[in-house]
Amino acid sequence: MSRTAVTSTPIHPVLAERWSPRSYDTTKSLTKADLTASFEAARWSPSANNVQEWRYIVGFRGDSTFDTIAATLAGWNTAWAPNAGALVVTIAETSNAEGQANAFALYDLGQSVAHFSVQAHHDGLHVHQVAGTDVAALKAAFNLPENWDAVTVFTVGHLADADELPEPLAEREKAPRTRRDLSETVFYGAL
Ligand SMILES: Cc1cc2nc3c(=O)[nH]c(=O)nc-3n(C[C@H](O)[C@H](O)[C@H](O)COP(=O)(O)O)c2cc1C
Repeated sequence: MSRTAVTSTPIHPVLAERWSPRSYDTTKSLTKADLTASFEAARWSPSANNVQEWRYIVGFRGDSTFDTIAATLAGWNTAWAPNAGALVVTIAETSNAEGQANAFALYDLGQSVAHFSVQAHHDGLHVHQVAGTDVAALKAAFNLPENWDAVTVFTVGHLADADELPEPLAEREKAPRTRRDLSETVFYGAL
């Protein structure tokens, strides 16, 4: 079952092969060292004025941080995300100490997570980003400063067979990966 993107021209293999699974191998765990390179990649992401508005809180399966994050998951995410080796809260510093808004905080955070996901995939891990979580509960649980917001959670771990998931998740895991055509995405003048 290939999950590799079908592209109009070859792209870097890590970008083509990265995808977001829901089936994680619960017999394997992760350590801080396993994620260091991915967090270095996230750290070296560009940001507006180099403000680096991102922060991450990491829980490993079996620890209390992981359980706190898992308790905030919503809907179907509760059925698969807690099988990952780690759950990570993504945090944006939405304003500075003077109370001025960091207008690009979400943009820069997302780009940092993208860097993480590509490095993780290169290192044999799989990342799945999750918006279905209670961000207010995360902010409260981790006592975030007023000007920091929890934005998403992402899972990271080792891939397991799709058939280990309950339906309808197993079927979704095998569904073709699709994207809007490049011609409907990139324009060289007015739309
Ligand atoms: C910001 C963001 C939030 C997402 N939230 C969820 C989610 O709550 N649950 C889920 O199963 N997938 C979630 N996804 C995963 C997307 O559905 C997935 O990336 C998309 O379908 C493309 O699939 P691919 O990453 O395998 O190419 C999210 C992705 C992003 C970037």
